[in-house]
Amino acid sequence: MLKTRKLVMIPGPTPVVRSIQDQMGRETVAFGDADFVADFAEVVSDLKALWKCGGEAFVFAGSGTLAMEMAIANIAGKGENVLVCSNGFFGDRFIDLCERKGLNLDVLPAKWGESVTPEQVESRLAAKDYQLVTVTHVETSTGVAAPIAEIARIVRKKSSALYVVDGVAATGGVEETIDPMGIDVLLTCSQKAFGVSPGLAMLWAGKRAMEKRATLGRIPESYIDFDKWLPIMHNPAKYWGTPPVNLIWALKESLRIMKEEGLEERYARHERQGALVDAALEAIGFTVAAKKPFRAPTLSVYLYPEGSGIDDTTFRTMLAEEGVQSAGCLGDFQGKGFRMGHMGNIDKHTLVSAVGAVERACAKSGYRVQFGKALGVLQEGLAKE
Ligand SMILES: Cc1ncc(COP(=O)(O)O)c(C=O)c1O
Repeated sequence: MLKTRKLVMIPGPTPVVRSIQDQMGRETVAFGDADFVADFAEVVSDLKALWKCGGEAFVFAGSGTLAMEMAIANIAGKGENVLVCSNGFFGDRFIDLCERKGLNLDVLPAKWGESVTPEQVESRLAAKDYQLVTVTHVETSTGVAAPIAEIARIVRKKSSALYVVDGVAATGGVEETIDPMGIDVLLTCSQKAFGVSPGLAMLWAGKRAMEKRATLGRIPESYIDFDKWLPIMHNPAKYWGTPPVNLIWALKESLRIMKEEGLEERYARHERQGALVDAALEAIGFTVAAKKPFRAPTLSVYLYPEGSGIDDTTFRTMLAEEGVQSAGCLGDFQGKGFRMGHMGNIDKHTLVSAVGAVERACAKSGYRVQFGKALGVLQEGLAKE
């Protein structure tokens, strides 16, 4: 039997388009190759320009967690006070990371499906002196987007703390700018809204973050030390750790696609299409776990309709059989729904296929839906694009 193609609709990795795959299939060259060095330099320069960063940008082999660790290691000294604003599982990831670095930690948690608010951050900053505030832009366990620009304004106004944003499930799909927004460190990785295979970590450090690094002297970490990578980011002909040549090319192609689409339009597309997929699934009884106005444009947690009798494992197995890979839920939502990404270089075909497969998976799991109901909502919206 002809196998149904697998669409990778988990919240990362996301589908990798042909032109990006082609870059990964190229014959690998020496990292000192003059053409590659020029490509690498262009990638670093584009990252700085597109995310409006007057400081530095770093690209290196690793996953998002390594970039989180790099952020903390380079701008926080032992014994400093950190406020971790956590909207769920990945927000909490900063806790262990900060504890291991000997930081004094306070956690500002949100209810599952909601976000920490600027007002809550303001009252915490009024009560204590913090040197660092961390926020997860899009929390992948809940599909919640934090109001990062508003929180930035509060952090800047009310404290001298450095502001770290985890953009792993947002960067390239939701607006983020370093200098205009007042972000000191933004970190992300390749496998989400960039639509590149996993393996690349990225980090932007604004001027204040670089100044803080200079005050810390020799930090315990080696591979993720800003000081080790900076000479390479300024001149990729130099060597520190071997750059993943093909992934850098893939990222260059991803950035080319972003520039061609235009970042503003890319962010607007994510908003429109994210809302459409949400509306389509709501039409057949699913609940979007993230409360408005905190719904992320890049991914959603869809809770199974009450009384549907849907069994989580059965549903996601059926969905995979129908050609769509989804992710299970975490924490409070475990077993109650599924997570689906709608970010990166995805087109109308992908969205129609994904929503169609959800309808079939419902039917195959014993939840009777009217075929075409969710698709109808999606199609109406896509036809206006
Ligand atoms: C918001 C967020 N932060 C951090 C991470 C960790 O990234 P990685 O799995 O690439 O280490 C993830 C992973 O999904 C994430 O969604």
